[in-house]
Amino acid sequence: MKIFEEIESEVQSYARSFPRIFNKAQGEFLYDEDGNQYLDFLAGAGTLNYGHNNPIFKETLLDYIHSDGITHGLDLHTKAKGEFMEAFNEKILKPRDLNYVMQFTGPTGTNAVEAALKLARNITGRENVISFTNGFHGVSMGALAATGNSHHRGAAGVSLSGVSRMPYDGYLGDDIDTTVYLDKVLSDSSSGIDLPAAVIVETVQGEGGINVADIEWLKNLDLVCKKHKVLLIVDDIQAGCGRTGTYFSFEEAGIKPDIVTLSKSLGGYGLPFAVVLFKPELDQWKPGEHNGTFRGNNFAFVTAKAAIDHYWSDDAFSKEILAKGRYVSDRLTEIVEQYGDGNFTTRGRGMFQGINCVNGELAGKITKKAFKNGLIIETSGADDHVVKLFCPLVIDMKNLAKGIDIIEEAIKEVCAKEDSIPEQKKYFDPIDLAS
Ligand SMILES: Cc1ncc(COP(=O)(O)O)c(C=O)c1O
Repeated sequence: MKIFEEIESEVQSYARSFPRIFNKAQGEFLYDEDGNQYLDFLAGAGTLNYGHNNPIFKETLLDYIHSDGITHGLDLHTKAKGEFMEAFNEKILKPRDLNYVMQFTGPTGTNAVEAALKLARNITGRENVISFTNGFHGVSMGALAATGNSHHRGAAGVSLSGVSRMPYDGYLGDDIDTTVYLDKVLSDSSSGIDLPAAVIVETVQGEGGINVADIEWLKNLDLVCKKHKVLLIVDDIQAGCGRTGTYFSFEEAGIKPDIVTLSKSLGGYGLPFAVVLFKPELDQWKPGEHNGTFRGNNFAFVTAKAAIDHYWSDDAFSKEILAKGRYVSDRLTEIVEQYGDGNFTTRGRGMFQGINCVNGELAGKITKKAFKNGLIIETSGADDHVVKLFCPLVIDMKNLAKGIDIIEEAIKEVCAKEDSIPEQKKYFDPIDLAS
């Protein structure tokens, strides 16, 4: 089909890596027009945690459509919305002792981030926001200002202001707790960093290359925010909805962020849907101050409720994700040890894992080879150097093993052709600076 070359904009990205015409999908599989089957380790960049066309949600959605349930309702109170909110409150928030109100924004992650940043700025009367190196929060202007990636930032066309960048956990090496630096600059009235309204953070940086914040680091970040009366926003758009093994990615740290953004797999079926959660005392919005025509995707309310009812009524799914995550990490460790010449490393938490393949060229060769063998998998990171495993969480163990076999085979083939595997680039080397 020539239509894509003829009139689809050059802005397309994933389509370039997987140049096929896909027409069907089920569970962890995608199919192209010629009937070829692909294992999907991209999963809508984290939107399909429950798989493609999850049969449970499909039935529920079809019943809803057949009954002429509301499709579009602006922000009107609808039955579907109320039932989703009940389920979310009873099965997600209350058992975790989280007391949040919910704001329904436009259905993209970036819109939820915009709302979170606006809210924090309006409440505190401060403009500055702290975000972290390699952070990704979306590409609309406010969210883009908090995003690190120069490729995306470069497209803004205007200066991106109102954000100060701090080193993420591990950015200066494993032994340096960068929250100490944050505390120092916030304590020093001459640091040049204006007291921020909020700190926005991903507990695992997805687009930034699967950089995992240590649990202790997250706890310290929370303490620093509290000390300086700065709001803590956890952007759980990619890491949330079970990806790390718990519903929210920050649960293990035992923190209660002031504001949380959720999207991607929240809708369950891959339907666009985003929310901002925040502590009730922060709810200082005036009616309609942040709005959007598509604030109420009722189809997504229906499937989101089905996802909560089916997968999150007890801790069985969480246990399943963690067990699968352990399997992935064991396999990846073996692969890295066998083929990486001591230079490849594994990274991640739960089912949010990947392999640092040193540079984008190598990682790109590996994902290309994997695609030839029927696996859809992408890279992430500043140099696209991390092969990112992002399959549906509901994946069958057999297919999880099969997908990793394909990755192993691809790495084996690619590495066999290399004279040697280059050493990992050090983004910061104090010894080099000293000499
Ligand atoms: C952590 C995080 N925040 C925000 C976004 C933006 O979401 P969207 O692409 O739906 O605007 C993403 C997208 O990948 C993300 O990973």
